[in-house]
Amino acid sequence: MLSKKIESALNGQVAIEASSSQAYLAMASWAENQGLQGTAAFLYRHSDEERLHMLKLIKFINERGGCAVVPALKQPSTKYKGITDVFQALLDHETIVTNEINGVVDTCLKEKDYTTHNFMQWYVGEQIEEEALARTLIDKLNLIGNDKGGLYLFDRDLEGMQGAEGGNAKGGKKQ
Ligand code: FEO
Repeated sequence: MLSKKIESALNGQVAIEASSSQAYLAMASWAENQGLQGTAAFLYRHSDEERLHMLKLIKFINERGGCAVVPALKQPSTKYKGITDVFQALLDHETIVTNEINGVVDTCLKEKDYTTHNFMQWYVGEQIEEEALARTLIDKLNLIGNDKGGLYLFDRDLEGMQGAEGGNAKGGKKQ
């Protein structure tokens, strides 16, 4: 059975994963309107992954005798100065998510809830990969600069690139 503190911390994380999904959906839509089809496909997949992160939490809360709360969401940003701005916003968002996950893990230790602590380790590992992937993509964009040919290739590469769950920071498949 979950304590009220843990239930509340996990529901906070449900809201964060939901807001991540919503934010990346807005980024995907922006990219699609810019003609960046590969980037849009990558971000649509990323948005779907975040929804799965939320679902995983909802199911865990309910299975452990808590009550999962489906949150209301704020409208995410719809305007970006450019593609680097999108991925910088994504990295900034993931850095906040990592801090929040660390907070949940800390609460688990304080409450001596080792089952939830164990469950949260998946999210801890996921954050390392997501941040690494975002940093790699920003590095590539900085290298490309204003080179339109480079941007074309970047966008084409992202078409088939898996997110953090399906690949590593170099964009390859997990073994
Ligand atoms: Fe589910 Fe990107 O954190």
